[in-house]
Amino acid sequence: MKAELLYEGKAKKVYQTEIPGRLVLSYKNDATAFNGVKKKTFAGKGRLNNEISSRIFEFLHDKGIETHFIEKLNETEQLVYQTEIIPIEVVVRNLATGSITKRLGMEEKTIFYPPIVEFFYKNDELGDPLINDEHALFLTNVTPIELQEMKGKALKINQILSELFQRLDITLVDFKLEFGRMIDGTIILADEISPDTCRLWDKKTEGKLDKDVFRQGIGDLIEVYEEILDRLERV
Ligand code: C5P
Repeated sequence: MKAELLYEGKAKKVYQTEIPGRLVLSYKNDATAFNGVKKKTFAGKGRLNNEISSRIFEFLHDKGIETHFIEKLNETEQLVYQTEIIPIEVVVRNLATGSITKRLGMEEKTIFYPPIVEFFYKNDELGDPLINDEHALFLTNVTPIELQEMKGKALKINQILSELFQRLDITLVDFKLEFGRMIDGTIILADEISPDTCRLWDKKTEGKLDKDVFRQGIGDLIEVYEEILDRLERV
């Protein structure tokens, strides 16, 4: 199925396939934080994120969200549609924590209703800076309509996933999405949704069930990712 390696990111490899327009995403065991400054390998992480992201993308598909996901191929790989990735990270926040509290001095756990949507320019050299709509239009080839569409889709996905995690006794605090453009011009959800890209807090204990345990050195990454998968298996 896999042909040449197209791209290697911090957490995944992307391979061409013999079928035009389809790619293989291969999840790695590496975890990175602070723009790659902190790094560690965790046996089993690739399998967990592949499984978790596959389940979440299938769930979103069933709720009418168009995504690049086609199927899970094996423990660490999935087949996806090839898209032109738009170099904007779309972050949705329901509760204040992480970079927004440092940047704007908000108190931890302040509730954002309506949720806050932010755009970051996907550029490692610049450290993925926060950008506004005008910056996004200048720096990338998105149109104003596409930008609004990305914001609308991100909020819809937030609604669907907040309800899903609520059922699992988890608060969806914030998360990051990436979108891609298909050959016909449609914008669809791409990349992954996993505990690497979301903040997930246990409703009862407020314990962190996401990559913050590695970023902050406060817990066992594999244990909490397994907990997320166990709860998703209840759906
Ligand atoms: O660090 P910050 O508070 O801006 O992160 C917001 C959300 O976006 C978090 O859920 C984090 O895991 C995710 N994120 C990500 N990839 C990045 C930056 C943030 O998945 N490069």
